Amino acid sequence: METFRLSNGVEIPLLGYGVFQVSPEECERCVTDALSVGYRLIDTAQAYFNEEGVGNAWRKSGQKREDLFLVTKVWISNAGEEKAAKSIDESLRKLQTEYIDLLLIHQAYGDVFGTWRAMEKAYRDGKVRAIGVSNFQAGRFFDFAHYVEVKPMVNQLQCNTLIQQTGIEPIHAAFGTKMMAWGPLGGQGVDSIVKSEQLAGIGAKYGKSAAQVALRWLTQRGIVAIPKSTHKERMAQNFDIFNFSLTDEEMAQIATMNQHDTGTINFSDPQFVKYLIETYG
Ligand SMILES: NC(=O)c1ccc[n+]([C@@H]2O[C@H](COP(=O)([O-])OP(=O)(O)OC[C@H]3O[C@@H](n4cnc5c(N)ncnc54)[C@H](OP(=O)(O)O)[C@@H]3O)[C@@H](O)[C@H]2O)c1
Repeated sequence: METFRLSNGVEIPLLGYGVFQVSPEECERCVTDALSVGYRLIDTAQAYFNEEGVGNAWRKSGQKREDLFLVTKVWISNAGEEKAAKSIDESLRKLQTEYIDLLLIHQAYGDVFGTWRAMEKAYRDGKVRAIGVSNFQAGRFFDFAHYVEVKPMVNQLQCNTLIQQTGIEPIHAAFGTKMMAWGPLGGQGVDSIVKSEQLAGIGAKYGKSAAQVALRWLTQRGIVAIPKSTHKERMAQNFDIFNFSLTDEEMAQIATMNQHDTGTINFSDPQFVKYLIETYG
């Protein structure tokens, strides 16, 4: 497994397994399968309601805690210093661990500065090894990162071969922030990537699928990819990407496939913000 170091020196795997929309009942089985395939980074969130499944799976797997990299996220209903602090303890309990490897603010709404103060405290207290944000688009990210004391080590964004997030790269670089890609296979629109003839054509040379090329492309950009699948054979396929490398020409060819650089969700759209706040805030 290829890894790199976050700005505070913490080593993070370049590939992980995500459990968005995996039911609480199925989550334990899926994470058990993912760990047996070889994944060590597991990406969950308070809002996925399956942190217990992740906790049960890793506990029963016999894996050493220090060999795993557990990621979770504070949801907007837990925004603010006091509520966020309580929710971090709750996540620790559900994940059955004394520390979280990477804790993110899930969405850029509510009292994010209060949430961050709770996360900075948890970081200093050793409950969390690294802290970051998710879905903070360029302007919001710049404002936030400028004013907080501990700079976000990660920004997890929708990112894949069709949504390349190139515009935010220099802003991340200014704060030493690394990108993590959610929806690395296209999420709901998975077919546009896993059935891409262009990606399959590149993969044919290496005996790799379009999905594998898409994930390799992200990791070769130095972006952590966290594909989700409930099928063990797909988990294995998605994991098998570190025994080939794309050439500079192939990387450049895929770069031309960019369709919506900043993603398909407009996080500044008042209707979207209203929906999230009214539903979950
Ligand atoms: N921070 C955020 O706001 C946020 C938002 C969304 C997601 N995430 C994180 O990112 C992770 C991944 O994102 P995602 O779940 O939205 O999308 P994704 O990983 O890009 O795509 C998942 C879809 O691809 C299918 N799939 C997986 N591997 C495949 C393969 N090799 N061939 C064909 N189809 C394949 C899956 O189906 P099957 O399951 O049926 O195999 C599922 O429908 C999530 O699980 C979550 O941890 C974070």
